[in-house]
Amino acid sequence: MSKEEISNLGNENRRFPPSAAFAAQANAKPSLYDEADADHTAFWAKQAESLVWEKKWDQVLEWNLPFAQWFIGGKINASYNCIDRHVLEGRGDRVAFHFEGEPGDTRTLTYKDMLREVSKAANALTSLGVKAGDRIAIYMPHIPEAVISMLACARIGAAHSVIFGGFSADSLLQRIQDADATIVITADGGFRKGAAFALKPVVDEALKGETHVRKVLVVQRTKQETAWNAERDIWWHDLVDSQSDQHTAQAFDAEHVLFILYTSGTTAKPKGIFHTTGGYLTQTAFTHKMVFDLKPETDVYWCTADVGWITGHSYMVYGPMINGATQVMYEGTPDTPEKDRIFKLVEKYKVTILYTAPTLIRTWMKWGDEFPNGCDLSSLRLLGSVGEPINPEAWMWYREVIGQNNCPIVDTWWQTETGSIMVSPLPGITSTKPGSAMRPLPGVDATVIDDDGNIVGNGHSGYLTLNKPWPSMMRGVWGEPERYKETYWSRFEGKYFAGDGAKWDEDGALWLLGRVDDVMNVSGHRISTAEVESALVSHEAIAEAAVVGANDAMTGQAIVAFVILRGGIDHANQESGEALTKDLKAHVAKEIGAIARPRQIMVVNELPKTRSGKIMRRLLRDVAENRAVGDSTTLADPNVMKLISEGLSSAKQED
Ligand code: WT7
Repeated sequence: MSKEEISNLGNENRRFPPSAAFAAQANAKPSLYDEADADHTAFWAKQAESLVWEKKWDQVLEWNLPFAQWFIGGKINASYNCIDRHVLEGRGDRVAFHFEGEPGDTRTLTYKDMLREVSKAANALTSLGVKAGDRIAIYMPHIPEAVISMLACARIGAAHSVIFGGFSADSLLQRIQDADATIVITADGGFRKGAAFALKPVVDEALKGETHVRKVLVVQRTKQETAWNAERDIWWHDLVDSQSDQHTAQAFDAEHVLFILYTSGTTAKPKGIFHTTGGYLTQTAFTHKMVFDLKPETDVYWCTADVGWITGHSYMVYGPMINGATQVMYEGTPDTPEKDRIFKLVEKYKVTILYTAPTLIRTWMKWGDEFPNGCDLSSLRLLGSVGEPINPEAWMWYREVIGQNNCPIVDTWWQTETGSIMVSPLPGITSTKPGSAMRPLPGVDATVIDDDGNIVGNGHSGYLTLNKPWPSMMRGVWGEPERYKETYWSRFEGKYFAGDGAKWDEDGALWLLGRVDDVMNVSGHRISTAEVESALVSHEAIAEAAVVGANDAMTGQAIVAFVILRGGIDHANQESGEALTKDLKAHVAKEIGAIARPRQIMVVNELPKTRSGKIMRRLLRDVAENRAVGDSTTLADPNVMKLISEGLSSAKQED
């Protein structure tokens, strides 16, 4: 979104009330808001009752700010709630996943099939000596075994740490070390953009570092040649297929750790956000049912996120499976073999609920209406958006072209840390506005405040904060309790600060305005400026680096880096300059992963710094977005920006 578009957010008069027909059948009733307002903890306790507990809790909430415990004394198993329950209650033959591989291969897995596969995988992990409390790293393509592995871990009380398959060996190693994982579950590779890519070599590379990994369990997906360490590596089919398909899920404490998921913060070291069981399951299941209006007997639900992100955890695995949903899972990219692949799958599986990200919606807009128009999308009845602010133009296109003016849109704001959706319209109740996430869900207490912590009125922007604990809130940063307090609870007393700017408009609708900290959002993925800077300065040619997220029409933000070279490095002529920036981009991709590859790298002689040495990214963002540079009077050397601008206009800029 452009600066102008962002400052225009909230000046929106179009409103789309729910149709009477939708409202009449909706799961969510307006009374939900009143119930939650009347008694916050009783409201959440009521939602927790829809799960199966082996032992009910003694106390709903213990709140020692900022540490919450929910459903204390309760005992529950996540995998049981996702699978066994449905089979025992007669829903075993319902399809859990319609899986479609990128090459077109398919698998149908019913809830009964999932119970068999997850039981075998749980027995396999136990045979490897995995115990409750252990950490298991999962580094997989987007195939059913990723979900099976997660649920097998949950079944035996081991915490999973899923690392998105696009991350580099270094990133993988860092995460394996931080969580001290003992087993890695991976695959030979997967299919993407019409070809097989390899994953196992990345694991091999990562495990050259120091870890306590004992075994690597490898799913055979592509059948490509795979290097093998006979002492450490085991094929999934050799170990799992021969296991018993009987396994009794063991109930764990409500506050037992369910998983760790790493996310980027404002420093170079990613944070291991961890979630526990009872509260997380309660809120993911509740929000999934209400926000997406799931009718499990008839809906076909498709969340296009990868399981490697929180969206995949909460709205592909735990929320939907607890609710007994039938889902589509697709391995590959949206333009393979053609740009209509997603729409073809909507038509094929008669998808009724589609949950995706603004970056993909904008990509579809660019590709052209002929792709969705060529497919039958009439099965769709609800659309969702997540990951970044959705610009009103993309929202309208989503509504008109994909939803054929017939589907409510839910723009859902939340974070890895919140575990579940926190701000969203409720379909059937809320009149939506293009681009607004509208209002906090029942049971969520959100305010927008200014620098001094005062609540701002309608029409003004400020910082989005959360005031009461919620069941699926993160329980901490793995191994760093101080960092949890400091990062999320120290800026405004007694409040959780999410890192986002927000605004209530004149009608009281809530607009998310993007991050206000040094975190970028590229295609809905969170990347820290510090992480990319640290990757850049690890290159031998770089003395110093400053990274900003510049507005990008397609990816929301794009990474733009300003670098100072070490003495003696030649980049003066065009050829060596181009070779260097190419090399630097490749270096960042190797250090972090392809998602962190800068769009643009500019070589400069100075960086704009305040007298205390802090880089003024705001000014660099002006340069990156081709704007006149803003107020630079607080710079230690006010001439720096002039020098940077002049230097760049005389040098060739690399794109
Ligand atoms: C950050 C969280 C939550 C799953 C995907 C990303 C941004 C997320 C929205 C939205 C505006 C959004 C925020 C947030 N964000 N959803 N609907 N409107 N911004 O999870 O990687 O933890 O990132 O994504 O900036 O803080 P994440």
